[in-house]
Amino acid sequence: MQKKQLNISYQVYQSKDELPAEWASLLQRATEATERSYAPYSNFNVGAAILLDNGEVVCGSNQENAAYPSGLCAERSACYYAGAAFPGARMLAIAVAARQDGKLTETPTYPCGACRQALVQYENRGGVPMTVIVGSATRIEVFDSVKDLLPFAFDNLDESVMI
Ligand code: THU
Repeated sequence: MQKKQLNISYQVYQSKDELPAEWASLLQRATEATERSYAPYSNFNVGAAILLDNGEVVCGSNQENAAYPSGLCAERSACYYAGAAFPGARMLAIAVAARQDGKLTETPTYPCGACRQALVQYENRGGVPMTVIVGSATRIEVFDSVKDLLPFAFDNLDESVMI
């Protein structure tokens, strides 16, 4: 038997002013995207913004549906949109923000498990780490890679078999 240990590190910023300018503006885009969220059932408005290596920023927001499971999170709406619109581009960073009852959440909103799985596959396809920036009213956290949020991602299907 072998015992193994994982370590992750992440950065915590007290405010947007402390963030590198590129990340601050991406987080701003994610915050603006919360206004385009459609969340009549949860009243939890999430926005995501993805920076691509071609300089484009693609935004998404959660879109709910009366058949609840048919809705989609902000992060997946953004990465699927980016993948569909710019298939060759690498995703360099994603920022996430959320508002509840109109107010920015007090704590960061981390991508859910399904979104982490979707994002990690785009990260692997791109071959470069995707920075994850999660904002809130009290602090901003930055992870260097989606893998820091999902170290044991499902990755066992051989893509060449699937095409
Ligand atoms: N949601 C997101 O869009 N992203 C997350 O990271 C967590 C949850 C959405 C799904 C649903 O529309 C609402 O927030 C409440 O769960």
